[in-house]
Amino acid sequence: MIETSDMQFEGRMVSPQEAEEDRDVEVTLRPQTLVEYIGQDKVKENLAIYIEAAKRRCDPLDLVLLYGPPGLVKTTLSAIIAHEMGVNLRVTTGPAIEKAGDLAAILTNLQPNDVLFIDEIHRLNRQVEEILYPALEDHAIDIIMGKGPSARSLRVDLNPFTLVGATTRAGQLSSPLRDRFGVILRLELYTTEQLTDIVRRSAMILKIPCTIDGATEIAGRARGTPRIANRLLKRVRDFADVIGNGEITREIAHMALDRLEIDELGLDSNDRRMLEMIIRGYGGGPVGLETLASALGEETVTLEDVCEPYLMQLGFLARTPRGRCATVAAYRHLGYSEPQSNAGLDGQMTLSNAD
Ligand code: ADE
Repeated sequence: MIETSDMQFEGRMVSPQEAEEDRDVEVTLRPQTLVEYIGQDKVKENLAIYIEAAKRRCDPLDLVLLYGPPGLVKTTLSAIIAHEMGVNLRVTTGPAIEKAGDLAAILTNLQPNDVLFIDEIHRLNRQVEEILYPALEDHAIDIIMGKGPSARSLRVDLNPFTLVGATTRAGQLSSPLRDRFGVILRLELYTTEQLTDIVRRSAMILKIPCTIDGATEIAGRARGTPRIANRLLKRVRDFADVIGNGEITREIAHMALDRLEIDELGLDSNDRRMLEMIIRGYGGGPVGLETLASALGEETVTLEDVCEPYLMQLGFLARTPRGRCATVAAYRHLGYSEPQSNAGLDGQMTLSNAD
């Protein structure tokens, strides 16, 4: 089932959301161990300790919540957890578990200490959450048989398991659920250096000749996101094969990414349109998210999940209580002359409404 918001991401090269075509390649490129996994050093160090401790005690790992921007391949990390623990991984998503019975079917099929990964866990419905709590705490679920006065409750024992939940929106988790996670790991966007290593590793696995400069060029435009870096690698390879001699060099990558209208900082036409709207339509802001979304003909969630995290990381956009503002850096990047600036928020220079 595709959500409305997902439709907005379709076809966008720099969308962090997983597209159908990403799936096979992500599985091929998936690192199996923490040592192979590039970046997220703090998360890796802590996870290694928790995994080792659980293994020594022959216990399942405590509940793990992975949260952070989309596209950081959280499934990969949960697959590594399962691999390092020497158990199976079962993958599902919050919206896919519609009824309590759906979750019961999954839980009763888990082997001892298996990892159950629930992506978008903030979208689990309340009835399903209610089943999850006794499953986690008592390793049992109560199944209601029949209806009305003749309904009977049947207790089914479960194997102990580890729940790994992933969300882009930790704030939307219900508090009883959030409070149950013993290990909360925040994933950060990747640096260009880390993404260069990821592109080089992927190129090696996929047997694509790629120079270090070529990998760096792709990494620099991948918005801190491995999924985007790997997607760009595949597209740049097409240009290298047809226009060049098959090798991804800096020149080929530069030309290919320019043709894809992804600029040297990874902004695509949608990002630039958003910033231009704030600058030209609203004097640099502040402008409310809803207003901005309707002016652009976009969903608010697209702006929030796809455009904003990266624009904020670049320091091009400030979220203020009164709305979104373009920063001086955004003006410069888009080639606008710097307007009269006010001392901005968070130590940045931001611009208030021109009038
Ligand atoms: N592919 C995607 N993300 C990766 C990572 N963090 N390390 C290695 N390969 C990856």
